[in-house]
Amino acid sequence: MKKKTLPAAPLAPTPPMGWNSWNTFSWNINADLIKTSADAMVETGLRDAGYRYIVIDDCWSLRDRVKGKLVPDPEKFPDGMKDVADYVHSKGLKFGMYSCAGTHTCAGYPGSFEHEYEDARTFASWGVDYLKYDYCYKPGAADGANLYRRMGMALRNCGRDIVFSACNWGADGVHDWIRQTGANLFRSTGDIQDSWQSIERLVRSQLGKECYGGPYCHNDMDMLVVGMHGNSDNSWIAEVAGGCTATEYKTHFALWAIMNSPLMIGCDIRKMSDSTKEILMNPDVIAINQDIECRGPFCIRQWNNPEKVFALIKPLYGGDYAIGFFNFGDRKSEMSLQFYDIGLPYSSGYGLELYDCYAHKTIGKFSERYAAQIDSHDCLMFRAKVVKR
Ligand code: GAL
Repeated sequence: MKKKTLPAAPLAPTPPMGWNSWNTFSWNINADLIKTSADAMVETGLRDAGYRYIVIDDCWSLRDRVKGKLVPDPEKFPDGMKDVADYVHSKGLKFGMYSCAGTHTCAGYPGSFEHEYEDARTFASWGVDYLKYDYCYKPGAADGANLYRRMGMALRNCGRDIVFSACNWGADGVHDWIRQTGANLFRSTGDIQDSWQSIERLVRSQLGKECYGGPYCHNDMDMLVVGMHGNSDNSWIAEVAGGCTATEYKTHFALWAIMNSPLMIGCDIRKMSDSTKEILMNPDVIAINQDIECRGPFCIRQWNNPEKVFALIKPLYGGDYAIGFFNFGDRKSEMSLQFYDIGLPYSSGYGLELYDCYAHKTIGKFSERYAAQIDSHDCLMFRAKVVKR
């Protein structure tokens, strides 16, 4: 028997960062798109900002298996998948693919049900580093947790380090059992759309579930719509003409960052505006997402507008705290944070020094509270240091 080598380190200590083809291109994928997106990942600086995975979503294979094996559609991927993987790797990036726990993928291509071990070996032979694993066409009688356990075990023993990205949309109480399947991230929400309503819905559904994510198994609130501005081949995703405003994309990114979601870009990274680049490559916001302890935030709501205005506070490695202020309302509103509520009473003798993650500078020291006006759908994000008053 071949000696088994342990992975160099456990996979996905912090939320994975990358790009996925689904939001913008859905079924319109091919080798050229993947390779040019890998080029863009490097040329735009996204790779150096921390984005590593280039992930092909649904619709990459033939409609039927050939001799039991998954086969890339030769019209879309004329030189096969290893060729694409090699190209992605040559750019210093990691390569991801997609399959499904059911008999078919959501778009009707073959799924991995009862083929888990064979498919894991196939993915390993192509050089795959990340597998997104969907939940469509699950036989009614099959146990969902068991299907994720199967692929989890198959991937852990396929001879290659492959990040396991479970995608069952929060169904069947996934928060309670997914960590034990070996998954490295788990989709906890239905599909995102390029609209503020969708962003708000997903956030509300995961507030209060912060305790379930953590190192090596992250709560995935779905791919980002930052920078899409209504551009998608999939009219369901582009539900609102023009998508979101730049402010809404900024807030969407801040929420995914502080709520510890993976940061998988969904726009066309070959055509990003400066504002999109600035949002996606903000080093201070990314650092909050990538904090090694992966502690979820707690929520403090604004006393006179608790449904719409709130702060999220996340303890960071080393003693700092990330503090985000969010306004979901349709008019400007105040958020005032009493430091008492986050564990810092006046009697301590300490206050907070706030570093603004958008202005990239320290704005001052505050002793008991900090209050600010926030525009509709906007946010503020600080890195707070506990300092002597
Ligand atoms: C959905 C999944 C999406 C995308 C799509 C592909 O189930 O949530 O992210 O992968 O399937 O058909």
